[in-house]
Amino acid sequence: MNTRNIIAGALAFGITSLALGQVIGKPEDQIRWRQSAYHTMAWSMGRIKTNVEGSYNKDQVIEAANLIQAIANSKMGALFQTNTGTGKGWKETRVKPEFFKPESRDELGKVAGGFSKEANEMAKVAATGNAAAVKAQFGKLGEACKACHDKFRKED
Ligand code: HEC
Repeated sequence: MNTRNIIAGALAFGITSLALGQVIGKPEDQIRWRQSAYHTMAWSMGRIKTNVEGSYNKDQVIEAANLIQAIANSKMGALFQTNTGTGKGWKETRVKPEFFKPESRDELGKVAGGFSKEANEMAKVAATGNAAAVKAQFGKLGEACKACHDKFRKED
């Protein structure tokens, strides 16, 4: 990925070299909000999966894809202030210390940018109602979730 894409990814996620976005909420609120957002995306991924594996409902897939897209572009980086590396939201945070290291910024920008790109594409593909294309894009989007988890999320 080139520098422009990394910067675009960092911007989509809400991280820049200057600040991690606007600080809203106490550390435990930030952890709770991000855990809720991730669970909401997991629910939406589940809805898409059910549709591509069972009987396909175009509207349901659009609803789910639009929700993921909105979260992907919501600048969630603001919910990862440096004082949220440990602590409890709904449960103990699983973020890895690597997430907050300056030397991880490029990598984080890359995975966040990749995720945002695939989420935007998912919304586009969902709008076409083409089940086979949605299935293929669902695979790519799942890979983008995993790419970040592999690097920045601890095992349960
Ligand atoms: C930019 C990195 C990143 C991307 C992209 C990402 N995640 Fe995560 N995810 C995390 C981190 C970090 C945590 C741990 C959050 C915490 O506990 O504070 C997490 C936690 C989760 C959790 C568990 C939440 C909990 O309460 O334990 C689920 C479920 C989840 N992610 C699903 C997804 C899905 C589905 C996608 C893609 C649609 C996705 N994530 C994309 C980084 C990411």
